[in-house]
Amino acid sequence: MPEAALLSVKDLVKVFPSREGKELRAVDGVSIDVRRGSTFGLVGESGSGKSTLSRCILRLLRPDAGTVSFDGQDMASMSAARVRRLRSRIQVVFQDPHGSLNRSKTVSDIVGAPLAAHRSGNRAARSARVAELLDLVQLPAAMTARKPRELSGGQAQRVAIARALALNPDFVVLDEAVSALDVSVRAQILNLLRELQGELGLTYLFISHDLGVVRYISQDIAVMYRGRIIEVGPREQLFAAPQHPYTRLLLDAVPIADPSRQRTRMRLLGEQTGADDRPDLPDDAGCRFRSRCPVGADRERCATEDPRLEPHAEGGTLAACHYAGEIS
Ligand SMILES: Nc1ncnc2c1ncn2[C@@H]1O[C@H](COP(=O)(O)OP(=O)(O)OP(=O)(O)O)[C@@H](O)[C@H]1O
Ligand SMILES: [Mg+2]
Repeated sequence: MPEAALLSVKDLVKVFPSREGKELRAVDGVSIDVRRGSTFGLVGESGSGKSTLSRCILRLLRPDAGTVSFDGQDMASMSAARVRRLRSRIQVVFQDPHGSLNRSKTVSDIVGAPLAAHRSGNRAARSARVAELLDLVQLPAAMTARKPRELSGGQAQRVAIARALALNPDFVVLDEAVSALDVSVRAQILNLLRELQGELGLTYLFISHDLGVVRYISQDIAVMYRGRIIEVGPREQLFAAPQHPYTRLLLDAVPIADPSRQRTRMRLLGEQTGADDRPDLPDDAGCRFRSRCPVGADRERCATEDPRLEPHAEGGTLAACHYAGEIS
């Protein structure tokens, strides 16, 4: 694990049973290193395995193979008690701000729930901490008595963020955390996340199907396709010289500002190139992007040899493509 990595995932595999009794390799040998204090962006279309990867990191799912190390410790070989302690340092914010909040509770109950669960301090100390957390996410103190239905989407997501920060985590997984928000609210939440990162020294795994959003907030970016990372590297290099044809397709879809139109565009992109939503293993040993690939569709090597993630002379990223950089 590189010196500065807070979270290190190595060769992670997660298999689900799929239709027809075949196995679906939702995550198929993924390795990532998330540097302390940085944001690692994970982008990819629906079904590419982003959430499955994050659920393995959060221990909501047990990986079938591979390791997840946090702060130098392999989580699989830890005792249950140690995993529990560690889990308070790793928190998550999901997409649907209202759906992730208990409707019958007040904002104060919701944000204070992790403190109560960890029996942190007495009632007075906890309510002081809740006030501090609301201030941190820039919500007025008057919000404490509100119920989730009385909050806007942006306010609800601030509450979810406050709850995630309650136990002073080091690492926060943001799984499509801004995807359900209007564009202007989205920008506010992204800026809040950046401020919080600077203030609290947080490390983020930021997941989105929207490369524009990922670009805004991440220092390192990985592109997932059908359970694999097909390109990864520093943001500047990935955008300046994308090596994988799929990354290039995603980049072409970015300049559309309206997120609902962009989603349509990405879906169309899939339809036009014959993609489906079933990341089953390909029937041969070839590249899994081949059927959609503008570069390698007819090439022998792409049909017979699964490309490995490796550096290429033309760019500063790692890409899993035999003909990296060769884009028509
Ligand atoms: N619990 C499960 N049981 C069976 N299959 C699953 C399960 N969870 C996910 N999958 C499948 O694994 C694949 C990856 O799903 P995942 O939710 O990780 O994708 P994603 O990249 O997060 O997509 P999205 O952008 O839609 O959130 C999909 O084909 C999905 O249907
Ligand atoms: Mg997901």
